[in-house]
Amino acid sequence: MTANALAAPRWRDGLETEYAPLVATLEQLIPCMEVPMHLPWIDAINALKKDRGAVIMAHSYQSPEIFHGVADITGDSLALAQAAADCDSDLIVLCGVHFMAESAKILAPGKTVLIPDLEAGCSLAASITAADVRALRTRHPGVPVVSYVNTSAEVKAESDACCTSANAVQVVEAIAAETGARQVIFLPDRYLGSWVATQTEVELVLWNGTCEVHETFTAQQVRHTREQFDTKVVAHPECSPEVLAEADFVGSTSAMGRWLEKEQPERVAMITECSMADNLKNRFPRVQFIKPCNLCPHMKRINLPNIHACLRDLRHEVVVAPGVAERARRALDRMLAVGRREQV
Ligand code: 13P
Ligand code: SF4
Repeated sequence: MTANALAAPRWRDGLETEYAPLVATLEQLIPCMEVPMHLPWIDAINALKKDRGAVIMAHSYQSPEIFHGVADITGDSLALAQAAADCDSDLIVLCGVHFMAESAKILAPGKTVLIPDLEAGCSLAASITAADVRALRTRHPGVPVVSYVNTSAEVKAESDACCTSANAVQVVEAIAAETGARQVIFLPDRYLGSWVATQTEVELVLWNGTCEVHETFTAQQVRHTREQFDTKVVAHPECSPEVLAEADFVGSTSAMGRWLEKEQPERVAMITECSMADNLKNRFPRVQFIKPCNLCPHMKRINLPNIHACLRDLRHEVVVAPGVAERARRALDRMLAVGRREQV
């Protein structure tokens, strides 16, 4: 759905002046003719947000008009989980995918967590069920389970600890040290898992899940991009090992930003979701971003009109069954206790 699909709030005089700094930012990131289309929505959402005392959290893969226009808190999935656990407001609108909103609800059980589109899923979260995890435990008795945060609450409830790409190696090592296990079951992303396996002595048992966005990049495309643009390449560890082997740096969403800060390359190709480059661009005005432009169809279900409807009608509330939430929380708390310990 585009911003035009629902009746847009009325344009009011003075909007462009009132939002001048935001207009200047957005004009660097999206076609300038789109900015006046977004402004009335942004203004209406910000007014509703104030009335409701809500906090809007947006993942780094959200479009620039959401990320810069209405979000109070932005970041990767670890940052959003940490923010939900610490949040003062009783109402959180999570602009991201369903597992992120579920994590927020589990970590802030007393709060109302809304997601603008309940169908915003994730191919990794859809690749495994709680019954699959129980079957894995039966096949590998005594082996602890670390699940990527890109999983349902039910899968988290069957896990010993969760991790994100920002702390996967540290969580695997912490759980192995704590339990004395030589092996850890790591699920569901087989590419993230095989990358983690290159960074640790702990032996990993993997599941066959993949991210439908990152798995589409090929090593040949990366080599071609590098030759064509004479560019540095950074890649998310959800890409295949062949793609990662071509990258100058492999890291999570947040680590990519820190790598850019440190290296300040002239040009960089971001082998990840397209909005990442958009949202980093204004932090690094001297870096030329080469965008491979793979969009996550789930992240892109969230837009200004459905954020507006979500706040106006207090829909769609994310609910997690109390028994599941309690067990999933233990796994998420372990992840938060490890925190962010990336090298960059
Ligand atoms: P982060 O954990 O880096 O935020 O990534 C989440 C995700 O869905 C990547 O595709
Ligand atoms: Fe899931 Fe991939 Fe989309 Fe991230 S980019 S939410 S892993 S489908």
